[in-house]
Amino acid sequence: MSTLGHETSQHSSQSFKITKIKEHIGAEITGIDLRKTIDLETHQRINDALVEHVVLVIRDQDFEPADFQKAISRFGEIMPDNNSLHLVDGFPLMLILSNRLKDSKGGPAKVEKNSNWHTDHTNHECPPKYTTLYAVELPDKGGITNVVNMRAAYDALSLEWKKRIDPLQTANTLISRANWETGNPDIVKEQKETTRRAVMHPLVRTHPENGKKAIWFHKGKTDTVTDMDPYETQDFLSELLANSLQDDFIYAHEWKLGDLLMIDNRSALHRAGTDYDHSQHRMLYRLMVKGDRPV
Ligand code: SIN
Repeated sequence: MSTLGHETSQHSSQSFKITKIKEHIGAEITGIDLRKTIDLETHQRINDALVEHVVLVIRDQDFEPADFQKAISRFGEIMPDNNSLHLVDGFPLMLILSNRLKDSKGGPAKVEKNSNWHTDHTNHECPPKYTTLYAVELPDKGGITNVVNMRAAYDALSLEWKKRIDPLQTANTLISRANWETGNPDIVKEQKETTRRAVMHPLVRTHPENGKKAIWFHKGKTDTVTDMDPYETQDFLSELLANSLQDDFIYAHEWKLGDLLMIDNRSALHRAGTDYDHSQHRMLYRLMVKGDRPV
C-alpha cells in the first residue's frame, strides 16, 4: 500500500480505505465489515498493512464473540490466554479485560496489571504475533490503549547501544523474581509452584515478514537478561524502555465502540490506560494469534 495518504480497495462488494495515522505508527481502516467473508487478497492486504504500520484500528465492527473469533481466526491460530479466570462464556480462547473483574479470592483484580509497557505472553516459546482487542463497553473518557513502535525505537538507538543489546537474551517467566513482593499474588503463586523452566528469547528480534529488528521484552516477566541478576535486569530494562518511548513512536488509541485494534507484537509494546472514571465500566475482549519462535 501507499505510505502517503490513503488508498481504497474493492472486495466482495465492500470498499475499504487504509489511512496512515502517524509517520512511524498506526493506520486506520474504514469501510470493511469483518463479519462478511473476505477474500485472500484482502486478508493479505490487511496483514501487510499491520506489519507495515505496527497497529491497525479497524472501525465500525459489530461483533458478537463468535464473529470476533471467526474474523481473527482468518489471521492464524488463536492461542489460549495465560489467564484462565476471566474468559468469555463459551469462548475459552477469549479473554475479558474489565475493571470490574475479581481475583481468585473475590477481591478486585488489579486493573493496573496491563498498564505497564509490555508485549503478551513472552513466557511461551511461540508468543502471539498479534494481540487483537475489541471494545465492548467504554468509559465516557480515557482508558486509552498505547502502542509503541519498537522497530523505530531500535533504529533510533546509537550504534553503541545496538552493539550492547544485539546479543542479549531474556529469561521469561510468568513473573520476574524482582516483582514477587509487589506482583499479583495469583501469578506469583503460580510461578513459585511451576516446574517449567524460563523460556529464553532474544532481546532484539528480527521480524519474520520484513526482516527488520525490534527491541522486544516484557519487563514484568523478564527474570534475567544475560549476565544480570533480577534487580539489575529490571533497572536495565527500565533504562532501555525510557530510551524507546519517544512520542513520535507512540500511538495513543482513544477507543470508540465498534473499534477493533490489531497490534503486531513482533514490532510493538503496548499498555492499557487507567486514566478514567473507574465507577464506569471499561471492557474489552482479547484474542491472540499464535506467532513463530522469536529469532
Ligand atoms: C492488553 O494489555 O492486552 C490490554 C490493553 C488494554 O486493556 O488497553
